[in-house]
Amino acid sequence: MKKNIIIKTLDHEGKGIGNIDGKIIFVPNTLPNEEVSVEITKEKTNYLEGEVSEILKPSSLRVKSVCPYYNKCGGCSYMHVNLNDEESIKTNIVKNIFKKYANLEINPTFISSKEYNYRNKIELKIENNNWGYYNASSHDFIKIDNCLIAKDSINKLIKNKDLFNIKNGEIIIRSNYNDELLIKINTEDNYNIDIDRLKNNHKIIGIIVNNKLIYGEDYFYERVGGYIFKVNINSFFQVNLDILNEVFNIIKKGNLGNVVDLYCGVGTLGIAVNKDKLYGIEIIPEAIKDAIKNAKINNQNNIYMLGDSSNIKEINDEINTIIIDPPRSGLNKQTLDNILKINPEIIIYMSCNPITLARDMFEIKQKYDIHNCYILNMFPRTKHIETVCLLNRKNP
Ligand SMILES: C[S@@+](CC[C@H](N)C(=O)[O-])C[C@H]1O[C@@H](n2cnc3c(N)ncnc32)[C@H](O)[C@@H]1O
Repeated sequence: MKKNIIIKTLDHEGKGIGNIDGKIIFVPNTLPNEEVSVEITKEKTNYLEGEVSEILKPSSLRVKSVCPYYNKCGGCSYMHVNLNDEESIKTNIVKNIFKKYANLEINPTFISSKEYNYRNKIELKIENNNWGYYNASSHDFIKIDNCLIAKDSINKLIKNKDLFNIKNGEIIIRSNYNDELLIKINTEDNYNIDIDRLKNNHKIIGIIVNNKLIYGEDYFYERVGGYIFKVNINSFFQVNLDILNEVFNIIKKGNLGNVVDLYCGVGTLGIAVNKDKLYGIEIIPEAIKDAIKNAKINNQNNIYMLGDSSNIKEINDEINTIIIDPPRSGLNKQTLDNILKINPEIIIYMSCNPITLARDMFEIKQKYDIHNCYILNMFPRTKHIETVCLLNRKNP
């Protein structure tokens, strides 16, 4: 059943919010003040979800998406506005989240990125020899030949998908600063990858199938901000190198003394800051091995520990700065308590989820002031938002 509604505002993922018979409805790909005809796709106790069937009165911000899969693949959320407007929307979202969850008024600096071809890692589904994404709400398979936000080297590989001869499964493609590729595939089917032809057309560093290395190496090297990082196929690395370079510029200022890099991954942020001594903690074994190697490559004597971030309490040394870059879930209570007990002069909190960041800031703000807050467009055109807050301990 279709209904005509007016979109009032946007939620934290950029979905339009309207109202049908007193019940809130979330409608992706709409803008404030637009009149739209919507089809209800889900009915929950407290809210509805819908899909636009027609834009009756478009917003002046609306532009035509340049992506043929927009609205279908579920990957991007802001292709219907230009990049400047996406950035204003994201700034307002973060400001509102900080007000709501941390009771803090912030005035963030926005750092922009190139619009397309920035992403160095994508994950695709394989169905009946086609590669594509699942639609976010229906889980329908959407075949793609090109992903506008992925690097050109990744799109070039997608065009040669027939050289993989894989019927069903999933594939992760990573591309480094030099357009070299690391490929990881999971499949239950027989496969017959034409490695020789792939090598002729692409800079293939390694292929891993069902966790077995079948060609080359299971890692490559990234180069950013004058540093070199070994990155295992299973280790996290930031997806937008230009923005990572901007993060380095933000966190590099001044000597941070003795630093702990919590959730350090392959050591990226801790290696880039100016410091006397560095400890890193990370839970993925391959990543901590990379971090140890990366300290050596970059001529640093850092100390890395495998385990949960709450183990920070085991560091028996003076700590002046703590860098925090957790997964989307933010800090668990034990880690947050331990950080506040250590009470360093400086905290650098980087986050890809402004809601858990603001939730944690509600506790942290009792003892710390926000010195600077940056929103970085690490993931242009998508709903995702990266934020970095520089925090100084309050005077007692
Ligand atoms: C957003 S990434 C940041 C990595 C790194 N700081 C960087 O910039 O590349 C979060 C990292 O936290 C790690 N991680 C997740 N849960 C953890 C935990 N409980 N304790 C320590 N590390 C954890 C993940 O493996 C991942 O490497």
